[in-house]
Amino acid sequence: MTYKEIYTESIEQPEKFWKHHADEIEWYSKPQIITSEDENGYPLWYKDGELNVCYLAIDKHIQDGYGNNTALIYDSPVTQNIKKYTFLEVKTEVAKLAGGMLSLGLKKGDTAVIYMPMIPQAAFAMLACARIGVTHSVVFGGFAPHELAIRIDDCKPRVIITASSGIEIDRLIAYKPLVDEAIELASHRPKKVIVFNRKLGARVPFKKYDVDYDALIYGSEETACVPVNTTHPLYILYTSGTTGKPKGVVRDTGGYAVALKFSMTHIYNIKPDEVFWAASDVGWVVGHSFIVYGPLINRNTTVIFEGKPIKTPDASTFWRVIAEHKVNAMFTAPTAIRAIKKEDPDGEFIKQYDLSSLKTQFLAGERCDIATLEWYQKHIPAPAIDHWWQTESGWPMIANLMGVEQLPIKPGSVGKAVCGYDIRIFSEDGTELGANKEGYVVVKLPLPPGTLLDLWQDNPRFKSGYLDQFPGYYFSGDGGYKDDEDYIFITGRVDDVINVAGHRLSTAEMEEVVSSHPSVAECAVIGINDSIKGQIPLALVVVKLNDEIEHYQLQQETIKLVRQQIGAVASLQSVVIVDRLPKTRSGKILRKLMRSIADGENFQIPSTIDDENIVGEIDSVLQKYNIGIYNVK
Ligand code: COA
Ligand code: AMP
Repeated sequence: MTYKEIYTESIEQPEKFWKHHADEIEWYSKPQIITSEDENGYPLWYKDGELNVCYLAIDKHIQDGYGNNTALIYDSPVTQNIKKYTFLEVKTEVAKLAGGMLSLGLKKGDTAVIYMPMIPQAAFAMLACARIGVTHSVVFGGFAPHELAIRIDDCKPRVIITASSGIEIDRLIAYKPLVDEAIELASHRPKKVIVFNRKLGARVPFKKYDVDYDALIYGSEETACVPVNTTHPLYILYTSGTTGKPKGVVRDTGGYAVALKFSMTHIYNIKPDEVFWAASDVGWVVGHSFIVYGPLINRNTTVIFEGKPIKTPDASTFWRVIAEHKVNAMFTAPTAIRAIKKEDPDGEFIKQYDLSSLKTQFLAGERCDIATLEWYQKHIPAPAIDHWWQTESGWPMIANLMGVEQLPIKPGSVGKAVCGYDIRIFSEDGTELGANKEGYVVVKLPLPPGTLLDLWQDNPRFKSGYLDQFPGYYFSGDGGYKDDEDYIFITGRVDDVINVAGHRLSTAEMEEVVSSHPSVAECAVIGINDSIKGQIPLALVVVKLNDEIEHYQLQQETIKLVRQQIGAVASLQSVVIVDRLPKTRSGKILRKLMRSIADGENFQIPSTIDDENIVGEIDSVLQKYNIGIYNVK
């Protein structure tokens, strides 16, 4: 089948298409109803099916006779440790952990927060939750206690599963005290905290609510998988939106399992027993879909990598991992390639490794600049495939379907619409735009299986954020255009979300934190181009009248505040003082205008601006601070 044929079938006969793909996974009770609607009229898939994702990821393969195959490779340059786990070994650990969780009183329908570094126990914790129908919410380890507390209060976990520590390059990060601080800050009290003691660094003080992970497993019986309904929430994953409060994306079970199986075969072109490596973190959607659930459902070996593309120990790490574990397909963010390219511009490290196993390099998470793509293709024989998706979709929406037909690569484009996604480009008033016209990227409803069900206990925000803007369509929050061959180009977010090193962050949230500084009258945080991280935040601050704080002091204090409240991952480094911010006559801050000035792009002064002189003022302040002179366009 060609791409055109399979895509057309998915759009014209969705029910037939997704019924067929539902047969690719095993159900306890096969769905008879393929499409339906929830009580709010939102499309649902496979409403009456019953399954268990942990069963699909682990137990099924053992039953099929593959128990001794490698399920997971833990490769940790920061602890100089490599450990392999078979499906049988994973099952023993996961089934015992699940048994231990039951003994702590957890039951199907409860929630659990997982706050872990990149160690196998993070995946075990996710699978153990799935095994007993507990909805997990993994929080990225780079978020500060305040952020963790917001998520605890929103999803009200019965337990938190964490580890004593993580390692950032050569720095030990004590995770457990961060969890204790978050519990102090939150109003909701989890009953227990299960702590995996890594025995690195100082002993962690024991709290009354702590349960030792190893002791829990040692003292527990293995427990079986619990069947859950298709629409049972497998997980809640918080992501940044346009306000200070993160959005809890709710993922179903059945549609997701079907979509992941489809992705592994049709997009990633990876066969059972091959090795798949997504160099991301379990705290992001990539980690959920393509470190843990997707590869395991497809009976692949998945790599859990605890390191960075550089400095652990150098820019050869990725190539070493690919060669050593014979990785067949890899997924990373362009930032990682830019960081490697900077350290090893001539690809000297690459020459030292046999990368013949690598069939495809997938890139996503942020825009991939053409120079990075070209550098990759110059040095590595495998095709580099950019593709586009979001936490909300859970799996790729635009790609090159490598398991169907490799279409010619157009640098700068993220490919063509994936099966099930009817992607359109709309103008602000909801008119569909023709070829090469830039507008809002939207998807005609229904979205295919596996995409978000709702926002956790916030259906009004789900509707207003995604569905109300263009009735009958899902609004992605991204801008872009299609060319005359239906290749899609993403031009960036059209809202206050930025992507820093492939990490999705909210500038509105950073503004809230910066504004809490006592000297700040008002501020705007915008994302500006950065040669390594793609985007970084820049804070423009108006200081209160008669406040004589020095720039250096204000900068240090606001950076510290953002690190404390959001986390170091926000990467705020530049804070500049301006006399005033450009606004419309109705008082709306013109953030896009400031972004264009900082990035040195051509811009038009909006007719709604309250005072045109301010453009020159902002430009000279940014020049004074050397903002924007090192960025990539
Ligand atoms: N736990 C605790 N802290 C964390 C963390 C974690 N899991 N992840 C990041 N941080 C901290 C870092 O230690 C750093 O702190 P510092 O400012 O005190 O040094 C800060 O957050 C920023 O980290 P990072 O974004 O990793 O930047 P970096 O400058 O340390 O490294 C890169 C630069 C390019 C090597 C790194 O950003 C990278 O590997 N990027 C690829 C990311 C990626 O794969 N994203 C995929 C998402 S799909
Ligand atoms: P996240 O939800 O963290 O996966 O971030 C999703 C956002 O990242 C999207 O809305 C895009 O803005 C951006 N993004 C993801 N992949 C790409 C890509 N390949 N090219 C450009 N932007 C991307």
